[in-house]
Amino acid sequence: MNWIATVYTPANRFQRTALWTLAITFFLIFVGGLVRAAGAGLGCPDWPRCFGLWIPPIRAESLPPPYDPAEFNVIKTWLEYVNRLVGVAVGLFIIATFIGACRFGRSDRSVFGGATAALVLVLYQGWLGGQVVQSGLEGWMISLHMVIALLILNVLLFTVYRSQRDRLRAAVPGAIRRKALYIISGLLLISFIQIVLGSQIREALAHISDTYPHLARGEWLGEVGALDMIHRSYSWLVLAGAIWFYRAVGPLDHAHAVRDLARLNNSVIIVQILLGAGLAYLGLPPVLQIFHLLLAALMISVQFLALLLLAHAKAVS
Ligand code: HEM
Repeated sequence: MNWIATVYTPANRFQRTALWTLAITFFLIFVGGLVRAAGAGLGCPDWPRCFGLWIPPIRAESLPPPYDPAEFNVIKTWLEYVNRLVGVAVGLFIIATFIGACRFGRSDRSVFGGATAALVLVLYQGWLGGQVVQSGLEGWMISLHMVIALLILNVLLFTVYRSQRDRLRAAVPGAIRRKALYIISGLLLISFIQIVLGSQIREALAHISDTYPHLARGEWLGEVGALDMIHRSYSWLVLAGAIWFYRAVGPLDHAHAVRDLARLNNSVIIVQILLGAGLAYLGLPPVLQIFHLLLAALMISVQFLALLLLAHAKAVS
C-alpha cells in the first residue's frame, strides 16, 4: 500500500488543499446521510437562513415570529444547520482548490478543468440545496442532490489524481490494462445504475411513509414492490462485475495500487450487500441507511480511481 502513503504525503500545498477538499466532501456526504436518517431535512424550514436567523436558537421560546415553537426540534435544527456549515466549508475549500489550480492553468489544463468543474458544481449544489428545502423535500430533487454530490466527489478525486499523476503513475502490462479498462468502465456504469435504483427506493419509501402514516417503519419496504427486488438482485451483478475485475488484475503484483483497489472494491460491495440485507430484514434502521449511502459513495470513488490509474498507466510488456 505504498501508493496510499504517496497520496497521503502531498508534495506541495496545492496537492494538500485538494486532498483536504476531497476528505471534507466525503465528510459532508456522511453528515448529509445523518440528516436524512434523522429526518432532519426540514430542521431549518427556510434557506439560506434557519428560522429567519443566521444562527438558530437552542430553545423554542427564542424563535422569532411568525415561527411556531411547536414545530421546533433542537436536534433536527442543529443537525441541518451543521450540515449547512459543513456545506459552506466544502464550498470554501473548493474555492481554495480552484485558486491553487489557477497556477496549473498552463502546465496542466486537466487540473484546472477539474477544479473549475468542482467549483461550478458546488455552486449549483448550493442553489439546489435551497430548492430542495423550498420544495418540502421533493424526492427527485434529493436524488439529483445526491448524484451531484457524487459527481463533485469524483471530479475532486480526478483533480487530486491529476495533480499527483506523475508520482502515482503505475506500470501495467498492455493486455491486462486493456481488458481491465473495459471491465472497470462497465462496472462503473452498472454501479451507478444500482445507486440510482437505490435512490428510487428511498423516494418510494418517503412517499409510502407520507401516504400511509399508520404503517410501522418496518412495513414500508413491503409496499415498494418490484423495485426492491430489482435492487437486491442487481447487487449480484455488481458483485460479479467486481470479482471479474479483481480476477482480471489478479496477475499484478500484490502491492500494486490497482490490485489493492480491486480488493477494496470487493470488500466494500460485500459489506454493502450485508448492510442492504440489514436494512431489509431489520426494519430500516437509520444507522444502516447512513452507512449504506456512505459505502455507495466510497464504492464509486474506488472504482473511478482504479479507472484513472489504468487509463494513465504505463503499458509494459
Ligand atoms: C452493490 C450493492 C448496493 C448498492 C451500491 C446500493 C446502493 C444504494 C443506494 C445509493 C441507496 C440510496 C440511499 C440514499 O438515497 O440514502 C440504497 C437504498 C436502499 N438499498 Fe441498497 N445498495 C446495494 C445493495 C442492496 C441490497 C442487497 C439490499 C437489500 C437486500 C439493499 C436495500 C436497500 C434499501 C432497503 C434501500 C432504501 C433505504 C434507504 O433509504 O437508505 N441494497 N441502496
